[in-house]
Amino acid sequence: MHEKSYGRLGRLALVLAASALAGGSVGCSSDSNSNGKVPPVGGAGGGSAGAAGGAAGSAGGAAGGAAGGTVLTAKQARGEYLVDAVNACGDCHTPQTATGPDLTHYLAGNATFIQLPTGDALPTRNLTNDPTGLMNRTDDEIKNMFQNGVRPTATGSEALNPVMPYYVFHNMDADDADAIVAYLRTVPGVNNSIPRRAASFDVPAPAPPLDVTKLPAPPATYPNLASAMRGQYLAARGGICVECHTKHLDPGSATVLDEAHFFAGGEDFSSLFAATLMIHPVSKNITSDVATGIGTWTVSDISTVLTQGKAKDGSGICPPMPVGPNGAFGRLTASDVNDIANYIHSIPPVTNTVVDMCSWPPGSGAVGGAGGGAAGGAGGNGGAAGTGGAAGGGGKAGGGGAAGGGAGGAAGAAGSGSAGSGGAGGQ
Ligand code: HEC
Ligand code: HEC
Repeated sequence: MHEKSYGRLGRLALVLAASALAGGSVGCSSDSNSNGKVPPVGGAGGGSAGAAGGAAGSAGGAAGGAAGGTVLTAKQARGEYLVDAVNACGDCHTPQTATGPDLTHYLAGNATFIQLPTGDALPTRNLTNDPTGLMNRTDDEIKNMFQNGVRPTATGSEALNPVMPYYVFHNMDADDADAIVAYLRTVPGVNNSIPRRAASFDVPAPAPPLDVTKLPAPPATYPNLASAMRGQYLAARGGICVECHTKHLDPGSATVLDEAHFFAGGEDFSSLFAATLMIHPVSKNITSDVATGIGTWTVSDISTVLTQGKAKDGSGICPPMPVGPNGAFGRLTASDVNDIANYIHSIPPVTNTVVDMCSWPPGSGAVGGAGGGAAGGAGGNGGAAGTGGAAGGGGKAGGGGAAGGGAGGAAGAAGSGSAGSGGAGGQ
C-alpha cells in the first residue's frame, strides 16, 4: 500500500461516495460555499451584500461574508489568498461533508483525511488559533512545519508525511510564507484535537525540497516571458500544480516527484474514489507536447480550465483538481490565472501518454442529472438548486448533468437567496 496513491484530497473520496449514494452533490464538493470558511462574526451585512450582489452564488456569498467580517491587513489578505486560492490548503485541512466543507471547522483539520482499509489514518491537522491547533506554535515553528516538514514534539521533532506538500512550499518566497502565518493567526480558533497519524504513515525524515533548478523554464523567446516566470512561481514554487501534474515516485525514493518529468502527468487519483463510482482521474500531461500533452491549447484554453472547470473540448475536469467558480482556482485573480496559463503554455514538450479514464460529471444521465442539481445547490443554496436539479435531471447523458450543474450554479448566482445564504454564514 503506497501512501502516495492516497496522496490527495481523501475527503473528496468520502464526499463523492456519500453524495453518489444520496444522488448527487459532487460538483462542488470541494467548496460548496465560497471558500468554505466561516466568516468572522458580523456577517449579517454580508448576507445582504451577497443577496443583492448575487454574483456567482458562492462568490457573492464570499463577498458577503467578507463584507461582514473583520478587515484584514494587506499581509493577512495576501495570506488568505494564498491559503484559499493558490494553495487550496482548506481542501485538505477543512473536513468535508456530503454537502461540502464543514464551515464550522474551517482549517480545523480532518481526522480521517486519508483512511486505509486497514483503519490506519493520516489526518490533516488543526491550523486554527486554538491550543489544539497552531495557537501555541511560534511563527518559525509553523513555517518549519509547512515548509520543511518538521514538527516540534515534546522531545525534539518529527518529520511530516509528504502528502503534506511542504517540499513544494519550501520554495515559497519568505514574504508569502510570512503572509500565510499572519493569516492563520486570524483564523478563529476551533477546539479540535486531531489524533496523531498511524505509524504506517510515519516517515524517517522530511522529504527533500523540490529542486527548482530542474523545473521547466519558459524558452527565452517566449512572448510573455515575464508573465510566464511569474506563473512558474504560482504553479510550482508558491503553488501546487506541479504536485498533482507530476508523477509521484514510490515512497522512500530520493525525491517525492519524478523530477525528470515535471508536468508530464500520470499521477493516478482513482484510489480516492469508491470503485463503484467509476471515477478514475489521472493528472494530464500539461507540457506543450502536441501528441500527448496540450501543445494545441492556447493560453486562454488553459485559463478556462482554472476559471470554468472546462477542458478545450468543453468537457468537465474531474476532481480532485479544484477548478471552477466553486473551487480554489476559481478564486485566483485574472492576472494570476493568465500568468499560470502563460507558464503552462510555455513548458517545453515532454512525451508521456496519459490514458484519460475520467469523464465529468460521472456516470449515466441519471447520475449526471443528480450531480447537476447538487452543483446548482452548492453554488446557490437557494431555490436555484431546484432549477439546477431539474435541468440536470432533464438532461440526457453525463453531459446533460454537466449542463444542469452549470445552470444550477448560474441560477444560484442570479440571486434568489443563494448568495444571501453564503453571507448568512457570517452570522
Ligand atoms: C494535499 C493535502 C494538503 C494540502 C494541500 C495542505 N496540507 Fe498541510 N497537512 C496535510 C497533512 C496530511 C498533514 C499531516 C502530516 C503528518 O501528520 O505527517 C498536514 C500538516 C500540516 C501542518 C502541521 C501542523 C501540526 O500541528 O502538525 C501545517 C502547519 C500545515 N499542514 C499547513 C498547511 C498550509 C499552510 C497549507 C497551504 C499553504 C497546507 N498545509 C496544505 C495535508 C495538506
Ligand atoms: C489536486 C490535484 C491537481 C491540482 C492541484 C492541479 N491539477 Fe490539473 N488536473 C488534475 C487532474 C486529475 C486532471 C485530469 C482531470 C480529468 O481527467 O478530467 C487535471 C487536468 C488539468 C488540465 C486539463 C488537461 C487536459 O488535457 O484536459 C489542465 C490544463 C490542468 N489540469 C492544469 C492545472 C494547473 C495550471 C494547475 C495549478 C493551477 C493544476 N492543474 C492543478 C489534477 C490537479
